[in-house]
Amino acid sequence: MTPHRPAAIELPTAARKSGTLRRAGRISVATLALLVAAVSARYFTLDPDTFLADQRAVYLAHLAPLLLHIGGGVTAISLGLLQFLPGLRARRPALHRWTGRGYVLAAAATGLGGLLIAPHGLYPPVAPLGFTALAVLTLATTALGLHHARHGRIPAHRRWMLRSYALMFTAVTFRLWLLALGPTGLPTAAVYASGAWAAWIVNLAVAERLLRRP
Ligand code: HEM
Repeated sequence: MTPHRPAAIELPTAARKSGTLRRAGRISVATLALLVAAVSARYFTLDPDTFLADQRAVYLAHLAPLLLHIGGGVTAISLGLLQFLPGLRARRPALHRWTGRGYVLAAAATGLGGLLIAPHGLYPPVAPLGFTALAVLTLATTALGLHHARHGRIPAHRRWMLRSYALMFTAVTFRLWLLALGPTGLPTAAVYASGAWAAWIVNLAVAERLLRRP
């Protein structure tokens, strides 16, 4: 008689595959986030030669909000990674709360600084409006995440914080968009302005998909 155990054999293989995929996804997210944080931190050398060439004069004229924005962004995108480590959350809840407070402050600085520099951004009005919408949504999702944590509503807290981090991760997706579409010959203004909207819309869609995962 043939042994009849397909389910017992298939399930662990599928589970192992999806576990490997998730691990690879998390490693890629962390690597890209830390890479963009490290590259962005060059602004703290205060050497204008390292600034985005097309915006050098504008950034020098708005240095305080720019540094508030980049300091917040570098901190939030790096600290946020720690918040999603389930082991750390379970074993060191106090650390999770402190890094969480740091994330909220840094996200507020990112959003506020972003709101202040967006009106001076490249390719108006489409790109600055896209970044303004991103800043408002980042501030709103982070505030909602904090609000739910304070009231002990942990599932809702996690959902809003995942959305907040997905929006923060726009810093990565936007640069990937420029890298992918830059060499296609499309006008730079179109690539930049479409990226200012598409990057965060795609990230939010991915976050919603992850939240609906069984
Ligand atoms: C999620 C909310 C964010 C918003 C609303 C936002 C908004 C903006 C805006 C409006 C500009 C000016 C663009 C222009 O001159 O055309 C900018 C530039 C910049 N942002 Fe953000 N940003 C966000 C997240 C981040 C994060 C997380 C980082 C760092 C990890 C970051 C790093 C930078 C840097 C380095 C620049 C200067 C331009 C460059 O060298 O690429 N931003 N951002």
